[in-house]
Amino acid sequence: MTTPDTHLQHLADNRARHYGAINTPVYRASLFGFETYADFLAARAGDLDAPVYSRTRNPTRDALEAKIAFLEGADHAIAFSSGMGAISAALLALVKAGDHVLAAACCYGPSRQFFDTVLAGLGVTVEYFPAEASTDLSDRLKPNTRLIYLESPGSLTFQLQDIRAVTKLARQRHIATVIDNSWATPLYQKPLSMGVDVVVHSGTKYIAGHSDVVVGLLACNAAMYRRIRPVATLLGAGLAPDDAYLVTRGLRTLSLRLARQQESALKIARRLEDKPEVRAVLHPGLPSFPQHHLAQAQMHGYSSLFGLKLHPGGEKARHAFVDSLSLFSIAVSWGGFESLILPVGRAYQDQPAVRQTMGINDDLFRLSIGLEGVDDLIADLEAGLAAWRRAAE
Ligand SMILES: Cc1ncc(COP(=O)(O)O)c(C=O)c1O
Repeated sequence: MTTPDTHLQHLADNRARHYGAINTPVYRASLFGFETYADFLAARAGDLDAPVYSRTRNPTRDALEAKIAFLEGADHAIAFSSGMGAISAALLALVKAGDHVLAAACCYGPSRQFFDTVLAGLGVTVEYFPAEASTDLSDRLKPNTRLIYLESPGSLTFQLQDIRAVTKLARQRHIATVIDNSWATPLYQKPLSMGVDVVVHSGTKYIAGHSDVVVGLLACNAAMYRRIRPVATLLGAGLAPDDAYLVTRGLRTLSLRLARQQESALKIARRLEDKPEVRAVLHPGLPSFPQHHLAQAQMHGYSSLFGLKLHPGGEKARHAFVDSLSLFSIAVSWGGFESLILPVGRAYQDQPAVRQTMGINDDLFRLSIGLEGVDDLIADLEAGLAAWRRAAE
């Protein structure tokens, strides 16, 4: 039987339509013309399979969307110009004034900001729940709860939510569920198969994989698509054809990159766990991770973004550690070919309760492991820990 890897290389690269081009070309076209009035009307009505205007549909984006829908096991996918574009379109399509939303407290900061500013401004109330509470959210539901928002694992502290427990409850109560699946990617976690209604991604991370494009992706079944597609079109944040091309190119090697990054990250995580300077390594694939069993039950693999909590050593030591690294760029984002370090310690400084729920402290760092030689990365981190030791109070 053909494996997903094989299928993924060829799916939706419609050669007959593109003069035999093996790789779907970039259609840098804002509009498409028709031979007859009848064809024009049929295309606008959706009866003729032809793009009309690129905000709504573009052949380069079509190919990417078909591949993402296939990977997520969805009827449809939509590609946006950023992950936040995908998240905000899903939320705006699914809730309205007077609704109540439950959201995982560990979700991405700007998603939380979207809840607290845009949705709150529209009259939607949002409450956050700690990841551990996801096994039974029944006490937190209200008669007007319309949506539960998950991000599992979270991208800052890697807490998981029990996806099957959440969707079981949500389906009983006719509540929509949305999950940010950026960390695991569609290769290592299939939320729709566990009952989630809508999957969103920052495709900027592993899916594009080359730190050269910002992209959002959304996948869902036909009923949800009928609700979200019109809103997405009106918001006008569709992915540009050049960017769609880059993402499709990245996608062709996703499986290879992830396999290597998974292996390297686990090796580094295990090595760091044994170091005396290290208080904890937050990696769902480690047996020491509090939700390791849940990770095994709902994911098929691990990506390469994880947390490193050092012992308290003071501000000077924290700087010495980060500044001595030569192979890890100090940067936001993650999931590319290159290794990164993000000092997480300053996150949510003005919201101590959020810091506490997420387990953030000044000595927390986030590592994104890239495609460099793993032993070089380990040597670099060991040198960093030595610098930390020399500077620690
Ligand atoms: C988990 C997660 N979701 C969503 C986003 C937003 O994606 P984008 O930056 O592509 O808008 C990010 C960005 O860092 C993220 O880390």
